[in-house]
Amino acid sequence: MNDRSEPAAAVPRHVAIVMDGNGRWAKSRYMPRFFGHKQGVDALVRTVLACADRGVEYLTVFAFSSENWKRPTEEVSGLMGLVLVAVSKYLAKLAGDGVRVRIVGDRAQVSDKLREAWQHAEDSTRQNTRINLSVAFNYGGRWDIVQACRQAMAAGVRAEELDETKLNSYMALSYAPDPDLFIRTGGEVRISNFLLWQAAYSELVFTDCLWPEFGDEELDAALAQYARRERRFGAVSSRSALASAGS
Ligand code: IPE
Ligand code: IPE
Ligand code: MG
Repeated sequence: MNDRSEPAAAVPRHVAIVMDGNGRWAKSRYMPRFFGHKQGVDALVRTVLACADRGVEYLTVFAFSSENWKRPTEEVSGLMGLVLVAVSKYLAKLAGDGVRVRIVGDRAQVSDKLREAWQHAEDSTRQNTRINLSVAFNYGGRWDIVQACRQAMAAGVRAEELDETKLNSYMALSYAPDPDLFIRTGGEVRISNFLLWQAAYSELVFTDCLWPEFGDEELDAALAQYARRERRFGAVSSRSALASAGS
């Protein structure tokens, strides 16, 4: 284990993104919010491939939060329908480009059709290894912690056995390292119940860019910010450690 801080590795292994700003992007063009969500899917496909090109191993995106059910029924059903369209339009391309797709979130509340589309996306990309795309859908960080506790209890894990590693093994993203870089587009500076457990030491980057406009330039700007960060994980700064070693 490290007792010194480290400069961030040049490329983050795991990038998490809150894809926010679709509605405002559409509104600024006098278009319905749904148009923004549609363009948002294209931005996602671009971003997955751009991340893969740059050597990112895991990309986790927030597509629909546990709280997004509070939106008007029309918008919610539009989003559900868009998932089906997106899977039929882009899955073959992503699969051919080596993307492994996983869905994280509570599947109990979504329709059978959507569950089947998710399952198909997961099954048909299972062998892929170039980049791991996790789509957080009907996901909430608090839901994730509670469902992990429930699974641990159902498995008969005793209180004395439960530690951070054990609980993490029941979390939705147990297959991935913690996100190194957490990006939120759309100008809001909050986490909105995304990876509450996993983002404990993520480097945060907030940008005003609205999600449908997110592209190579924005991604590279976020990666450059990340590369300049000094990650300390609670340890002392490498600069002050060097200074005290010299005194
Ligand atoms: C993010 O964009 C996509 C979802 C939450 C589904 P929004 O729909 O939140 O767009 P804004 O924030 O209203 O502009
Ligand atoms: C967060 O965006 C959820 C997704 C991007 C899917 P919201 O637009 O729902 O977040 P708030 O309501 O502004 O916090
Ligand atoms: Mg929003």
